[in-house]
Amino acid sequence: MTSGKRLDGRIALVSGALRGIGRAIAECLVADGATTIITDLDAPDSAEPRTVLAAIPGAIYMQLDATDDANWQNARARVEAMFGRLDILVNNVGADLTGKVQDLALEDWRRLMTLNIDTVFLGTKTFQPLLAKTGDSTPYGSSIINISSIMGLVGMGEVSAYNASKGAVRLFTKSNALEFADAGVPIRVNSVHPGFVETPLLHKGMERWAARDGTVTAQQLIDAMAQTTPVKRLAQPIEIGRVVAFLASDDSSYMTGSEVVVDGGWTAR
Ligand SMILES: NC(=O)c1ccc[n+]([C@@H]2O[C@H](COP(=O)([O-])OP(=O)(O)OC[C@H]3O[C@@H](n4cnc5c(N)ncnc54)[C@H](O)[C@@H]3O)[C@@H](O)[C@H]2O)c1
Repeated sequence: MTSGKRLDGRIALVSGALRGIGRAIAECLVADGATTIITDLDAPDSAEPRTVLAAIPGAIYMQLDATDDANWQNARARVEAMFGRLDILVNNVGADLTGKVQDLALEDWRRLMTLNIDTVFLGTKTFQPLLAKTGDSTPYGSSIINISSIMGLVGMGEVSAYNASKGAVRLFTKSNALEFADAGVPIRVNSVHPGFVETPLLHKGMERWAARDGTVTAQQLIDAMAQTTPVKRLAQPIEIGRVVAFLASDDSSYMTGSEVVVDGGWTAR
């Protein structure tokens, strides 16, 4: 509390934070002084949580399947018991699904919507009362950050399911921002729209796309992503994490309902 970091004394929870962008977000929140709860699917005593906690000293791990209402209720009870507050909620969990619309299976479509939209809804709904209460004790309120995508802003062929899910995250964010502001509830809500970020999700997604296509390799697809990005490279997860930490902090005090694009210029054209 004496170091003077911008998130000192704040409590944060990040969904899907053992890998990729979520992990980098947790690193940035901890670096800014927040007590950060990393949540993910893995059992607490398994290898990955132990490795991540060793790499991010001061972080806490909680097992939380973000698609499951009862898991969220349990997380809320634990956060209330441990800290009595939550300042920052990052709804980060998400997956991808590509393919021609006529080839998409309904069960795969529904699974994606569960992972990409239900998780944001459940996190927001479950923690809204605690975030609202906590927000009264800080100058500019609590902060919810929802991880959408550039694919929530513009369409792309063979990406219809992911486009639909991430577009939903974008508007769910704005709706909540207005609902809370109108009612004087001290919670800011913003969405972040990364471009192509070097994570396990990106690599696995391109491997599936290459296997379906049969004429290109995953690496060729990834190289093409970098080449079609104005800055000619993919993002590193930490470059998204830093923006999320800004939105979590009072440095973004006048921002709510915003869509923050972090895409190396991809959507600027
Ligand atoms: N990687 C990109 O290029 C990119 C671009 C734009 C947006 N995004 C979005 O950023 C977010 C994170 O993506 P990423 O690339 O880091 O993904 P990732 O697959 O690399 O990591 C996702 C993490 O979420 C966890 N997870 C999955 N299902 C879960 C569940 N039901 N409950 C709890 N945890 C769960 C995984 O175990 C993993 O640790 C997603 O919402 C994704 O759509 C990613």
